[in-house]
Amino acid sequence: MREISSIAEMRSWSRADRSHRHTIGFVPTMGFLHAGHLRLVDRARELAQRVVVSIFVNPLQFGPHEDLSRYPRDLPRDRKLAEERGVDCLFVPDAAAMYPGEPLVRAVPGAIADTLEGMARPGHFTGVLTVVAKLFHIVEPDVAVFGRKDFQQAMLVRRLVRDLDFPVTLEIAPTVRELDGLALSSRNTYLNPDERRSALVLSRALRALEQAWRGGEADPVKLQRVGLETMHGPGVIPEYCALIDEDLQAVTRVTARTVAVVAARLGKTRLIDNVVLGEGVGADPRVTP
Ligand code: PAJ
Repeated sequence: MREISSIAEMRSWSRADRSHRHTIGFVPTMGFLHAGHLRLVDRARELAQRVVVSIFVNPLQFGPHEDLSRYPRDLPRDRKLAEERGVDCLFVPDAAAMYPGEPLVRAVPGAIADTLEGMARPGHFTGVLTVVAKLFHIVEPDVAVFGRKDFQQAMLVRRLVRDLDFPVTLEIAPTVRELDGLALSSRNTYLNPDERRSALVLSRALRALEQAWRGGEADPVKLQRVGLETMHGPGVIPEYCALIDEDLQAVTRVTARTVAVVAARLGKTRLIDNVVLGEGVGADPRVTP
């Protein structure tokens, strides 16, 4: 596995590879890799001949009071996991290379990015889309794989690609979960044992919603209530439960394609989760012990 930190070197690696008629699959991450990230790597492998993973904790997407400085990092471990998974190139730029100064020009999404996660984290998606645009320009992938775990992010990246004509095909992969249903996240490492137990309210809320919908309830307001009522437990502060479509708009009628999204705080940790109602939480892949 090749490891690159320079932008120029990354670009020439990709270009040299493409001149050998290889296609490039790309998985952008902030590191502290887990089985969810590795599943994206597997998907990229299926879709392209070479796989590039980036690890970059992007300061631009963290608010002033968020967890940038304590975000978990372990490059030696990530390197080993990536190599074992057959990653061809690990791109690990540092912040000074990515942002030599405060960027003046950014990829700013429309008002739809000010809802849900964007409401709780002002400016977050501008930071995400700006770094994704930069990474796409640097790596020049044929295919990029994102996780549905961050549904709003995935849909906004899709709009970025469409609206700015990036020559890349997007693939959105299902959420990987622990055996008990908790969606994998690098931020789960912040949870103490009590919070870890309480964190199950998110997937439980999604399951309760899904069951109510399967039982014939199609009113989004009633389903939202089911979700919010389930999101209770010691130390849990529910943030939102919404029923939305792929354009991130609240639905008036719930269908199999409707996505239920939830967020809650456990102590200092914010967790998010979602389910496509017609697919169900049960259909998501689990971590193999
Ligand atoms: P990060 O949180 O490291 O996630 C990297 C990718 O892994 C994202 O596409 C995310 O949706 C996916 N992912 C996370 N948990 C997952 C799970 N349990 N199952 C499946 N996929 C999962 O998301 C980011 O980093 C950043 O915002 C980034 C896109 C890299 C831009 O900085």
